[in-house]
Amino acid sequence: MEYKMQLTDEQLAILNGSRGETMAKVLKTLVMYGDIFGAEKLVPVTHKEGHLVTSFGIALMKPLFSTMDKLIDAGLTTEGKFTVDPRPLEYENVKCNLLEKIGFHVMYKKQKDYEEQLKKVGLRNEKAFSCACYLDEVGNIPKEGDILSWAESSAVVYANSVLGARCNRNSGMIELFGLIAGYVPYFGLLTDEGRRAKWKVIVNTTKKPEAQILGSAIGMKVMEDVPYVYGLDKYLGNEINDDAISYLKDFGAATASNGAVGLYHIDGLTPEAKRLGDSLIEDDAQVYEITDEELERVYKSYPLMWKNKDAKPNLCFIGCPHLTYKQLSDWCDKIEAGLKATGRKKVAVRTIMTTPPDVKAKFMKDEKYGKLISMGVKIASICPLMYTNNPMTKGRAIITNSNKLRTYSVAKYLKDDDICDVICGKELN
Ligand code: F3S
Repeated sequence: MEYKMQLTDEQLAILNGSRGETMAKVLKTLVMYGDIFGAEKLVPVTHKEGHLVTSFGIALMKPLFSTMDKLIDAGLTTEGKFTVDPRPLEYENVKCNLLEKIGFHVMYKKQKDYEEQLKKVGLRNEKAFSCACYLDEVGNIPKEGDILSWAESSAVVYANSVLGARCNRNSGMIELFGLIAGYVPYFGLLTDEGRRAKWKVIVNTTKKPEAQILGSAIGMKVMEDVPYVYGLDKYLGNEINDDAISYLKDFGAATASNGAVGLYHIDGLTPEAKRLGDSLIEDDAQVYEITDEELERVYKSYPLMWKNKDAKPNLCFIGCPHLTYKQLSDWCDKIEAGLKATGRKKVAVRTIMTTPPDVKAKFMKDEKYGKLISMGVKIASICPLMYTNNPMTKGRAIITNSNKLRTYSVAKYLKDDDICDVICGKELN
C-alpha cells in the first residue's frame, strides 16, 4: 500500500509486521488518519500518559469492544498509564428513580466489561476517571512542548493553551492507537504554523466576563481557528494561578464545544503568548471585539430546550468540566451567602457538583466539604452529559453553568450568580 507521508525504516518495519499483525494495523490506522489531514510524518509521543475520551460502555458500541479485545489478545498496552473521561453513573451521589435506572442499565450495560478492557490496556487506576486530568491532584500534566495523544476536547484545548503542549483534537480510538504505537501524525496543532492565530479577539468589557459565555462567543465566531485574546490578563493577571486555571478550564471547554477550538492564546498569560507575543498572529487575522452587549447577545441567543418551558428547575449540575478544588471552595462560600440571604438551611433545587475523584478525596478533608453536604449539595465524579443522555432523564428541568452541557443536552444555561440565586430559593426576575 502507498502512503503519502514519509515513514522511517522502523515505522515501515512495524507496518510490515515486525511487531505483530495487530500493531501493524494500529500503525496503519494512524498513517491513514494522518494522510487524510496531510501529515508529513509521524512523530514520537513525548508525554506518555494519555487521556482517553471514551469512558462509557454503551452496548451499541460493539466495534469498540471487539477492537479492545484484539488489542488485549495481542498483548498490546500503552507505554504510560492513561486517564479517561468521567464515568456515566454514580448512584450514591446522583440518585435515580427506577425507570431512569432501567434506562441506564440498558444504555451502559457494558460498563463493567469495558472498564476491565481499559485496565488491561493501561488505565491508571480506579480514580483515573475525570476530564480535568491536568489538575495537580490528578497529575496527568504535560510540559510545554510535549507531544500528546489525547482526545476529550476540553482537556486538549487546556493542554495546548495553558500548558503549551501539542495535541490535535483526536477522535476516540485514535488517541489510544497513538499511545500504543508511541507515534502521532504531525499536522495541525503539532506544527508551529498550525498554532498561529487567525483571529485577534479584543476583550473590551466593563467587568470580568463570565468564562463560559466568553468562551462560547469566541468558539461560535472562530470555529476551529486559533484566537489570540487581548484584554483578559487585566482580569486574570499574568501568572497561571488557581483562579486562572479554573477560569481557563471553563473558558476553553466552551470554545471547544460551542465551536471547535483546540488552542487559544491569552496575551500576557498563556505560555506561547508570553514567549512569542503578537508574532503568533497571522498578518491577515480577523478581529472580533467583545463588549458587554456582545456577551449579552450571545447569552440571550441560547435556545431553551425544555419540554415545558415554564417548568421550575428540579436539578442543577455544576462542574462540566470537573471543578477544581478552588471552585468547590468558592461555591461553598457563594451558596452559604445565598442561603443566608434567603433564610434557608438547604438548597431549594437538587444540586450536584462534579469534580475529579482525587480532588474530592482531598476536599473531603476540608471543613467546607461538610458544609456543602449539610447545605444539601452532592459531590460526585460523573459526567453530567452522560446522565442527561438517558431518554428517561431528558424530561428533567436541568439548569447548569456549563456551556458544554447546554450545547449537548437540553439543560438550560444560567450565569453563576443566577444559578446560585435559583438553588438558594430566590426567584429570578
Ligand atoms: Fe467533562 Fe463530561 Fe463535561 S467529560 S467536560 S463533564 S461533558
